Amino acid sequence: TIRTVHAVEILDSRSRPTLSVTLAAAAPGNDDIVIRTGVPAGASTGSREATELRDGDKDRYSGQGVLKAVESVNGEIHERLAGHEFPSLAELDHELIDLDGTTNKSRLGANAIVGVSIAASYAFATAERQQLWQSFFGFVGAPDLPVPHFNVINGGVHALNELDFQEFMLAPIGAPSIAEAVRAGSEVYSALRSLLHSRNMSVGLGDEGGFAPEIAEPEEALDLLVEAITTAGYTAGTDGVAIAIDPASSEFYSDGTYTVAGKPFSSDEMIERYAEMVKRYPVYSIEDGLSESDWPGWQRLTSRLGDTIQLVGDDIFCTNPGIISEGIDQGVGNSALIKVNQIGTVTETLDAMITCRDGNYTQFVSHRSGETPDTFIADLAVGTGAGRIKSGAPARGERVSKYNLLIEIADDNRELPFGLG
Ligand code: PGA
Ligand code: ZN
Repeated sequence: TIRTVHAVEILDSRSRPTLSVTLAAAAPGNDDIVIRTGVPAGASTGSREATELRDGDKDRYSGQGVLKAVESVNGEIHERLAGHEFPSLAELDHELIDLDGTTNKSRLGANAIVGVSIAASYAFATAERQQLWQSFFGFVGAPDLPVPHFNVINGGVHALNELDFQEFMLAPIGAPSIAEAVRAGSEVYSALRSLLHSRNMSVGLGDEGGFAPEIAEPEEALDLLVEAITTAGYTAGTDGVAIAIDPASSEFYSDGTYTVAGKPFSSDEMIERYAEMVKRYPVYSIEDGLSESDWPGWQRLTSRLGDTIQLVGDDIFCTNPGIISEGIDQGVGNSALIKVNQIGTVTETLDAMITCRDGNYTQFVSHRSGETPDTFIADLAVGTGAGRIKSGAPARGERVSKYNLLIEIADDNRELPFGLG
């Protein structure tokens, strides 16, 4: 039985307001359960994401305040849930969806709803005397410790440099365990820092804790990564540390043209550039290589490279089971990024993952560029057996909290496998 749900406006890792949600519940045979969770927030958002409610009051936080979303939780959502008993998380989530009544959660705010849904998922697990990750058993796949993807060079809207591509990630696919994968990420991150410093380049950080050097061409970033990987003593490739990129290209696409380092590219020219990158560098995964509004380009990209590498849809799918289904039918990509706040409830997120599984798409669990120390996504990735997770650099509290929980889960459960699955 839910006793209370309560929210308050706090700060995320980017110094923007977000919600802290506290849920109190009573379960038969248990002490009272009190859960507190923080809500993530993106910067390069897909246009079909569930709608975050922001106040728009320019006198507070440049309009970014979330007092209206806080009021959704403390008013309507509290009134609807308090005193009620829910047999499952799915039923509670559907109650939230019905209460909001819109298709994109814009009335109460997806940021309000997702905070309550995540807190409720912890409460259900606690009531069943399970770890959160164990409560996801049986929904998607067999549990597994995912390969961490460390975003060590930041560009796009996550940094103020001239680099248009948003994320350059280290994927220690060849590591024997999560602890060794984290060690590889950290050692290469340190090597990269020294390398940048030795070349008189900035070691200032972007929003996800990666470096934001003054480079513009994506290939310069790839050269730096390969050098850092080898300097740190690892093999650059899928038998050691591979590279995954997220250009987040919707951000530099307009009217049929992609603008990279000041030069215009058509969809087909971008596809050729990616094909060349995959040949020259150990790039095994490309996310949002083309824009969310360029479905024909995505189809050609998928026919060209879909058998060779992972092609992840983030902005184009928005963790939306319906859009992912369309993508599967139309041959768009072969993987989906999974962000709980893009769709707004844990139940719908699991539906998106099931849709991927049934369509043979891989599932890539993700944080947002604005985070709190909350570790929900680490549990989600383990319990669903997604096989891949990205939570930014192997540095900064809100990023490493997720990686550290993976190491702790591995230590407590020695039988859990590690890897892409
Ligand atoms: P966001 O970026 O959280 O700022 O949307 C993450 C991503 O594009 O994967
Ligand atoms: Zn992305």
